[in-house]
Amino acid sequence: MKKINSFEEYQTEYARSVATPELFWAGKANSFYWYKKWDSVLNWNFNEPNVKWFEGGKLNITENCLDRHLKKRGDKTAITWVPNDPNEVSRHLSYKELHREVCKFSNVLRSNGAKKGDRICLYMPMVPELAIAVLACARIGAIHSVVFAGFSAQSLADRINDATCNIVITADGAFRGVKKIGLKAIVDEGLQQCDTVKKVIVLERTKEEVFMQEGRDVWWHEEMTSISDIRPAEAMNSEDTLFILYTSGSTGKPKGVVHTTAGYMVYAEYSFRNVFQYEDGDVYWCTADIGWITGHSYIIYGPLLAGATTMMFEGVPSYPDAGRFWDIVDKYQVNIFYTAPTAIRALQAKGLGFVKPYKLDSLKVIGTVGEPINEEAWQWYYEHIGKEKCPIVDTWWQTETGGIMISPLAGITDLKPTYATLPLPGIQPCLVDGDGEEIDGNNVSGNLCIKYPWPSMIRTTYGDHERCRQVYFSAYQDKYFTGDGCRRDENGFYRITGRVDDVINVSGHRIGTAEVEDAINTYEKVVESAVVGYPHEIKGQGIYAFVICDEEIKNEDTLKAAILTQVTQVIGPIAKPDKIQVVSGLPKTRSGKIMRRILRKVASGEANNLGDVSTLLDPSVVDKIKQGAI
Ligand code: PRX
Repeated sequence: MKKINSFEEYQTEYARSVATPELFWAGKANSFYWYKKWDSVLNWNFNEPNVKWFEGGKLNITENCLDRHLKKRGDKTAITWVPNDPNEVSRHLSYKELHREVCKFSNVLRSNGAKKGDRICLYMPMVPELAIAVLACARIGAIHSVVFAGFSAQSLADRINDATCNIVITADGAFRGVKKIGLKAIVDEGLQQCDTVKKVIVLERTKEEVFMQEGRDVWWHEEMTSISDIRPAEAMNSEDTLFILYTSGSTGKPKGVVHTTAGYMVYAEYSFRNVFQYEDGDVYWCTADIGWITGHSYIIYGPLLAGATTMMFEGVPSYPDAGRFWDIVDKYQVNIFYTAPTAIRALQAKGLGFVKPYKLDSLKVIGTVGEPINEEAWQWYYEHIGKEKCPIVDTWWQTETGGIMISPLAGITDLKPTYATLPLPGIQPCLVDGDGEEIDGNNVSGNLCIKYPWPSMIRTTYGDHERCRQVYFSAYQDKYFTGDGCRRDENGFYRITGRVDDVINVSGHRIGTAEVEDAINTYEKVVESAVVGYPHEIKGQGIYAFVICDEEIKNEDTLKAAILTQVTQVIGPIAKPDKIQVVSGLPKTRSGKIMRRILRKVASGEANNLGDVSTLLDPSVVDKIKQGAI
């Protein structure tokens, strides 16, 4: 696939993508390997919604990630894996080796009963076997549902049950910094609530002792010995589901975002090449976890489709010290580096002493994803990591969009700190006001919507299409609503200002306030709670919980510790509130709705500027809350 080389080319390509989208995307899709080409490029309506790309086509994404490259770059490194412990040896898998492992593990899945269309849950550490398992699912046409290995047994069970998975792939444990996490024990606990799971395949990583259930649990390494390494890829329809990935929203439990095969594939490679301006031979490192969409699209699929060397890091940025990222960049001569603003802020806070020992001169492009980047962090990243010569690509996108939507193309688009700048070709963003009217012109703000389909967009929410329609397509007629607020400046550059719904973004992780409230409410002493986000120096947003208890609390510290344990058990440590305030009442309207606007102000330290509170049922609760604010 050819990439865009200049801003003029971007403009021409963008104009073409809007004028003749089908011709445009058919041109991109032509560069892939198809068993059979499509009959129609696009059929769509946003009312149902019903979006279909490349219908009639037959393909397999792993044929395009692996087999297609074997002749030209079979010996080239596909995955470089860097272990948590800097003294453990790293691993390099060539395209040939990765292909072989994926074929073998595909056969393991088949011999354990997996078939096309089955849902398989992956709950694993950041090791090459996670990528191998993802690709093996895709190769046999099974649907992968990767669950971030920081989620609790309860969250894991909810996701397994929602997707009715029949196989779970996990490991004995995971290393993360100084910690060792017993993944298999968490799986065992979760599976007590799941009756669809027939097999658990367990990778040996930490070598701690684990329980193996006879007839259900098998070891990865035992299954992989003496299994054939020949496994032709299953021919999939363009719109067959490739994967499900759970993400949080304003209400209810996390929903399974469904991505399908062909459109996702085309957009993952197209966006990867263009945003990062990937050149053959570049070493590319995205520090995300494969448990999130960034890992799916820009550790596995995008880079492998482009035939790149993609790095996988098992550990954390602070271990053994805050110089770890930069040590890895130098050691592996990383050219393209992609991380989250939270990591940048956390490392910036540790001081330049951890950056100075490293040259960082292999870097050409640096990027950010997952949350708004503040100006200070942007400048620090640009100056101290990029040495004022690497463009920063501030990439805005979502689990639901499948790929990067608004971002500079490295070295091509002008940069503006804190701005994601311009949409990629094929992406038609618009801003909408409170009445649902599109806001024209520049120097304006509104709710960010997308008004035309793009190939890697969400197709449905697993098992509940109506929810997909409700959440994304019902707010505004004929538009996909992102849930984000946005500003368009005088030059038409976009700046994402953050969520406008009840979702908070903590260290780049999306957390639904309702989910945290539900978790807190399961604690016996809590009657009711309300959770909001507030600005947090490192995490972007912190979690602030207001709780009402059923009796006078004698020891608040004990209560708070119990609530934290409860949230960790129900969701996972990423959803733990940073602040908990015990209150006697919550600000409610006469119809019983909590006025979160007021709580957000209190949590943000702006309690003196609350605006109109006259519609409250009992305005006196506000003063009490203000007095107790942390
Ligand atoms: O609010 C936006 C924020 O992250 C949300 C999507 O989260 P998730 O589905 O977990 O995907 C994260 C990785 C793609 C968005 O609705 N977000 C993502 N990227 C940016 C961002 N906010 C500002 N700037 C960004 N570059």
